[in-house]
Amino acid sequence: MMTSRRGVVVLSLLCAFTGTAAWQLPVTHSSSRTGGALSVSSASYLDSLSTVTPHQTYSSVTPPQPSNVDYDKVRSDLKLLMDNPSWDDGSLAPIFIRLAWHSSGTYDAATGTGGSNGAGMRFDTEAADPENAGLEVARAFLEPIKRQHPNISYSDLWILAAYVGLEHTGGPVLPFSPGRTDHGDETYWARTGMTYGRLPAAEKYLCPYVPGDSLGNSQDAAGRIVGWEGLCTHVKNEVFYRMGFNDQEIVALLCGGHVYGRCHPNFSGYAGPWVEHPTEFSNEYATDMLEDEWTLVSHADTWLDAQGAAELRPAPGNRQFVNKKPGHVDDEPNQMMLASDMIVAWDPSLRIYLEAYAADEARLKDDFGQAFKKLTELGCGFS
Ligand code: HEM
Ligand SMILES: *[C@@H]1O[C@H](CO)[C@@H](O)[C@H](O)[C@H]1NC(C)=O
Ligand SMILES: *[C@@H]1O[C@H](CO)[C@@H](O)[C@H](O)[C@H]1NC(C)=O
Repeated sequence: MMTSRRGVVVLSLLCAFTGTAAWQLPVTHSSSRTGGALSVSSASYLDSLSTVTPHQTYSSVTPPQPSNVDYDKVRSDLKLLMDNPSWDDGSLAPIFIRLAWHSSGTYDAATGTGGSNGAGMRFDTEAADPENAGLEVARAFLEPIKRQHPNISYSDLWILAAYVGLEHTGGPVLPFSPGRTDHGDETYWARTGMTYGRLPAAEKYLCPYVPGDSLGNSQDAAGRIVGWEGLCTHVKNEVFYRMGFNDQEIVALLCGGHVYGRCHPNFSGYAGPWVEHPTEFSNEYATDMLEDEWTLVSHADTWLDAQGAAELRPAPGNRQFVNKKPGHVDDEPNQMMLASDMIVAWDPSLRIYLEAYAADEARLKDDFGQAFKKLTELGCGFS
């Protein structure tokens, strides 16, 4: 049973880049993403990784030769792979964008460590960072491209996949600079003083969630979660200032990043998409953040299921905001915000940029593109 499913996934992955019709992946969740269907798919991909992705096959046996890569051909192969009706909302662009962001977002400006150079997430320690849960799916989807183009480094491939994803979905078109090299083994982790906690956590430093307690008890009169200032310090100081970003860039990155894709109960424990159209670039995240009413929910809020919004109910232990109200059935598309998203509206020095991007999509596209390119080149020595 396990073996045959693994065979199907491997075959599907290998077929994907040839553009044949045999690439329908055995992923069945389409309406409900909280039940067993998703666990089947993610378990399959985990399986497929262990057989398809021996970590350093290409980088150790044949060191990649970045000067011997036809990057235009890699781009066109990535484009063939990008639309996939069997995954989530029909596109791999969101999960590729998240892979690029998490491979880059470990950068620490003070020590020059971390960042996309090295593709350390191929190795067990970085892969097991709780914030990286689910990204094994993105890495497995890219494996056929790596087989086709063995001279591209994994670290370049992960970034290029995100650039192609952005371009393919109406986002900014970014010039790609190759030249990242892959770590040969895991010694980089200890040698460069890497630790978990460099990537942001969506509820860090908030008042703890006590299951069974009314969520109203953890909110102030303005609806903010008690302790939100601490979460704000986490996102700003501990994460984005540490990398060398300012407030404007933080807001651009969040508005451009979280317009894509969705949260998965089996990956992060959060659930659902931020916007109605999660596979197209827009400033919808910014406009909806300001215009919609947001209700704090937990796993216990089963009224969501009754209102056709089961996909917005987080896993036990997690809190998030949703555009739904108990007892008020509407026909709005199901959407969510993390607590770490809401601080952009709550913090005055971030909110001014949120308002600017809600009013001007072209400016967001431009600023997001610049900030994303900067993010993906941190520590690469290109500039
Ligand atoms: C405060 C900073 C951030 C936090 C706390 C955060 C947190 C999260 C969480 C919890 C998820 C759900 C993962 C899952 O369950 O699959 C997610 C998804 C995602 N994030 Fe972020 N994120 C942050 C910043 C960013 C940035 C800067 C970008 C890119 C510029 C980004 C891009 C994405 C994308 C594209 C997804 C969807 C992935 C998919 O559809 O599979 N995030 N984020
Ligand atoms: C996925 O989530 C479901 C409930 O949402 C749970 O029953 C299942 O154990 C999870 N699977 C994995 C692999 O975490
Ligand atoms: C990779 O680069 C080497 C030379 O550095 C070259 O001999 C080889 O043909 C290249 N492989 C591919 C698939 O282009």
